[in-house]
Amino acid sequence: PVTVYPDEHIASVKVAHRVADLIRGKQRQGERAVLGLATGATPVEMYAELVRLHREEGLGFQNVVTFNLDEYYPMSPTAAQSYVTFMNENLFDHIDIPKENIHIPDGTLSKDEIVAYCLAYERKIEELNGLDLQILGIGRTGHIGFNEPGSAPNSGTRLVTLDDLTRRDASRDFGGKENVPTKAITMGIGTIFKAREIILMAWSQKKAPIIKKAVEGEISSDVPATYLQLSDKVEFVLDMDAASALT
Ligand code: F6R
Repeated sequence: PVTVYPDEHIASVKVAHRVADLIRGKQRQGERAVLGLATGATPVEMYAELVRLHREEGLGFQNVVTFNLDEYYPMSPTAAQSYVTFMNENLFDHIDIPKENIHIPDGTLSKDEIVAYCLAYERKIEELNGLDLQILGIGRTGHIGFNEPGSAPNSGTRLVTLDDLTRRDASRDFGGKENVPTKAITMGIGTIFKAREIILMAWSQKKAPIIKKAVEGEISSDVPATYLQLSDKVEFVLDMDAASALT
């Protein structure tokens, strides 16, 4: 299903409240909430609302376990552009989540450690009985996580090569495309699909053409987000601009 809100702010607050409801529901049952999280511009306001709910309305994160979708490779966790820094600044530094409950792919591994690391990442998710909810953004290439065109629907966590357009889109954060890493570690399409619920968020006119393809286009590895059409547990949450090309 597709849900369209008047603007990014209202949509972000709605999604944050769904995340909060999930966390509170699990708390009541004495269980953990296992969340798959995204970085980038799209979820920033959603995280801000979760921080507000923590500060002003007592939302606790003691029972929350998180797995981030991806990290650049190579990448130092302390670099300004790392997804570790992003998550700390936008969410983790401001809530009471236990540090050991946070998982973000490690951008400092040596090449020969990556395969085993990625399998262990998958295994950890499975040991926690899978992701309750996966939050996604979408790149202009149609990537989800960093699953670029060509990614297989059953792909797992792995090292991938970033598309040229993705690196161009990231160039401002890195002060030039030549400084953007060419690779990343990402959860796979298969990993994402195993989540019990998936919310893909997209805002602004800039995302309208790729949203049209993702929602209405032919299912194809050329636009990995089209695979989401195959699942009935996916919701596209859009603002009016991102939805503007939909028929
Ligand atoms: C980030 C991620 C990416 C982004 C996508 C959109 O963890 O997995 O798929 O969601 O590149 O990025 P923004 O939100 O910056 O437009």
